[in-house]
Amino acid sequence: MTQQLIDHILTRRSVSARLLTEPGPDETALQKILQGATRVPDHGKIHPWRFIIIRGEARKTLGQVLRAAYTDQEAGAAPAKLDLEAERFTRSPLVIGVVSSIIVPHKIPEWEQTLSVGAVCLNLLYSAQAMGFGANWITEWYAYYPKVRAALGLQAHEKIAGFVYIGTASQKPEDRPRPALSEVVSEWRAPLG
Ligand SMILES: Cc1cc2nc3c(=O)[nH]c(=O)nc-3n(C[C@H](O)[C@H](O)[C@H](O)COP(=O)(O)O)c2cc1C
Repeated sequence: MTQQLIDHILTRRSVSARLLTEPGPDETALQKILQGATRVPDHGKIHPWRFIIIRGEARKTLGQVLRAAYTDQEAGAAPAKLDLEAERFTRSPLVIGVVSSIIVPHKIPEWEQTLSVGAVCLNLLYSAQAMGFGANWITEWYAYYPKVRAALGLQAHEKIAGFVYIGTASQKPEDRPRPALSEVVSEWRAPLG
C-alpha cells in the first residue's frame, strides 16, 4: 500500500476539465473522495473550509450565472464566447467548489488556516485520482467574480480556493515539467567558526 501511494504521487497528473467525461463518481465514490479531502492537517481542528457540490442540471443553471456575469464585464461579447462561458461547469460530470472559510480572529494564525485549505484541495485531487478518476484544480475568473460568489452563497469573508473538476479522463495527459530538486532544495548547515 505504501508503495502504491508513493507510485501514485510520483506519476499522477491533472487532466484538463474539458477532457473529463462521464462517468463521474457515483454517490458512494463521492463520499469517499470527500472523506479523503477532509483528512488533512488542520491545526486546532477548526476545519476552516467547506465544499459545494455542483452536478447534474445545477451545472447548467450556474452556467447561466456565468453567462450573465461575463456579459456584465464585456457587453459586446460574441454569442459563441458567452456559450463557452455558460458551459464551463458542464465540461465535467462533477465539480466540487472548495471554500476557504478562515476564522479571524482566532488563535490559529490565518496563514496556517489558509495552508489547510490548500491541503484540502490537494487531498481532494489525490483522492479522486487515486480512485481512477481524472481531476483538475482550477479557479478561473468566475471564482473571484462577485455575482458568482453570491450565487454560490459565499459569505464576505469566504473565498473560493478552487473548483475541482472530476470525471473520466478521455485522454491520458502528457507529463509536465517539474523543477529539478537542485533548484528548490538546500541544506542548512551551521555557520563555520
Ligand atoms: C490555486 C490554483 C488555481 C489554479 N487555477 C488554474 C486556472 O484557473 N486555470 C488553469 O489552467 N490552471 C489552474 N491551476 C493549475 C492546474 O491545477 C494545473 O492543471 C496543475 O498545476 C497541473 O498540475 P498536475 O498535473 O501536477 O496536477 C491552478 C492551480 C492552483 C494550485
